[in-house]
Amino acid sequence: MSKLNPLLNQNLAWAEAVRQQDAQFFKKLSKQQSPKYLWIGCSDSRVPANQIVGLAPGEIFVHRNIANVVVHADLNCLSVLQFAVDVLKVEHVIVCGHYGCGGVQAALTGARLGLVDNWLRHVADVLDKHRARIDPIDIDSLKHARLCELNVIEQALNVCQSTIVQDAWDRGQELTVHSWIYSLLDGRIRDLNLNADGRDFLRRNYEDALDGFRLPERLPYA
Ligand code: CO
Repeated sequence: MSKLNPLLNQNLAWAEAVRQQDAQFFKKLSKQQSPKYLWIGCSDSRVPANQIVGLAPGEIFVHRNIANVVVHADLNCLSVLQFAVDVLKVEHVIVCGHYGCGGVQAALTGARLGLVDNWLRHVADVLDKHRARIDPIDIDSLKHARLCELNVIEQALNVCQSTIVQDAWDRGQELTVHSWIYSLLDGRIRDLNLNADGRDFLRRNYEDALDGFRLPERLPYA
């Protein structure tokens, strides 16, 4: 008996429960997907895209990696973005980070974890870019929380500056890029207000997102 049998049994129960609610669900979904949203999030097991925004299979296209990083040379992430924008024609790209992100913490403290340190160097670059916003914070947990936020905004900026999104905007395709952050402590998402929907987002949205957001005193960090 496989140690994974419990998962397979749970899958059977789930599939049956879905089928009982809608006998045609899987048949319909097998023919096509037409999600309106692309989610770029952290691989953290506590931040599952579909569940936390209450969406069913077929409703959100998902790419996850450690610390929700968007790098212009990452063929994996770019391919997901290109397929989502050009083929699926999603209307929203959501970059969602989370407080308590271990990847962000490692970048903040310079911890050595192995190969992943090279990936997290991109988050350390965000830290270097925003030293003036991070260094004055004298509580470590708040520094961490703030870097989690700034990392989301910077990765959303990278999405906006990709040729994929720039070309979509140039041809008049409706596409908005959002920056969200999830709290492990209360299960809630907060909007960091990038909401970029055209090439002029740098003037209209980006600086506001960086400066406009202030850490509320009693925000639950984790
Ligand atoms: Co994380």
